[in-house]
Amino acid sequence: MAFRTALQHLGKAPHLSLGSLRFASSSFRASDLTIKHSKSTKPKPDSSSLVFGKHFSDHMLTIHWSESRGWDVPYIKPFENLSLHPASSVLHYATELFEGMKAFRGVDNRIRLFRPMLNMHRMLRSAERSCLPLFDQSELLECITKLVEVDQEWIPYTTDASLYIRPTFIGTQPSLGLSRAQHAMLFVILSPVGPYFSTGGFTPVSLLADPNFIRAWKGGVGAFKVGGNYGPTIALQDEAQNQDCQQVLWLYGDEEEITEAGTMNLFIYWTNKRGEKELVTPPLDGLILPGVTRQSLLDLAQEWGEFKVSERTVRMRELLEALESGQILEVFGAGTACVVCPVGSVLYRGKTYKIPTTKNGPAMRFHKELTDIQYGRKKSNWTQVVI
Ligand SMILES: Cc1ncc(COP(=O)(O)O)c(C=O)c1O
Repeated sequence: MAFRTALQHLGKAPHLSLGSLRFASSSFRASDLTIKHSKSTKPKPDSSSLVFGKHFSDHMLTIHWSESRGWDVPYIKPFENLSLHPASSVLHYATELFEGMKAFRGVDNRIRLFRPMLNMHRMLRSAERSCLPLFDQSELLECITKLVEVDQEWIPYTTDASLYIRPTFIGTQPSLGLSRAQHAMLFVILSPVGPYFSTGGFTPVSLLADPNFIRAWKGGVGAFKVGGNYGPTIALQDEAQNQDCQQVLWLYGDEEEITEAGTMNLFIYWTNKRGEKELVTPPLDGLILPGVTRQSLLDLAQEWGEFKVSERTVRMRELLEALESGQILEVFGAGTACVVCPVGSVLYRGKTYKIPTTKNGPAMRFHKELTDIQYGRKKSNWTQVVI
């Protein structure tokens, strides 16, 4: 019975509010952090030509765990390859989860993280779902903050780029038996990244919507940031590119529910059937990742109070009807990589549907508001200053 209850809890719609998860009774502590500085520093890439995820900073954070010893002390050390037993569970059964967040160098030269506790909370939920050990979210954030401080020179001196932070948690159980890992490693690496739009503009993307493929399913792990959700999407992403589309619009089920676009949450801004301006985004029903950016747009829209805001299911048919009747004002994706990304067209069952874009709509306004906060142009309690 207890097991059933635990599983029901794991399947529940995830919210990004803090506090619903119990804290780990044992955790590593940031006060135990040991730092070994690299003897040399690698040359830094030119921030105007950064390719996502290709360059890595000089240091990394590692924290080992085993069932018999519990958490080891956290360790910041020179960036290096990992050494893993070939039977490690991450290599065979994808016992793996990760996060994606950024450190920004502001116009005042201070370094800020954006709502980092939301990432910590999501990571803890993914760990629980993956049967990996729990930890104290604040302690991990403190360790990450220290790592960013150590490698602060890797944060580009421009508001067109940032330092991507990739916390990762893997099962290192050296056994082919499919069971809860008794050995695990949490590590964090840093990578300077450029603007999402290589053109520098706010360029709309084209999406391929193919109902034959789904990203996640009810009762599955779509709401968790586990590696197993991502590798299998590459084939359809390739197919999208073969069909001259940039990303995939993920549909779900016979009703072709609209879920996410690539690795972004999706928003539709339209005049609804009652003639009201409305911002709609799919609900956190277990199919989509509860994005930090998604939550931030919803919070901002509520604060502005200028249009109706709804978290509800939208089907492909409804989107097409609204497009045909001219009700769609904007469609856009939201995520850490791009902040907000307008959608310019959808290719669906062989036909391309053009989607209106505007420079004066909520998409652009959300983008400006969030980047102003991230780069310190606007004061907000959503940022945490590192130094
Ligand atoms: C599948 C998926 N959806 C949505 C998002 C957006 O989430 P966030 O705003 O936290 O970056 C991401 C990126 O992490 C993602 O991988």
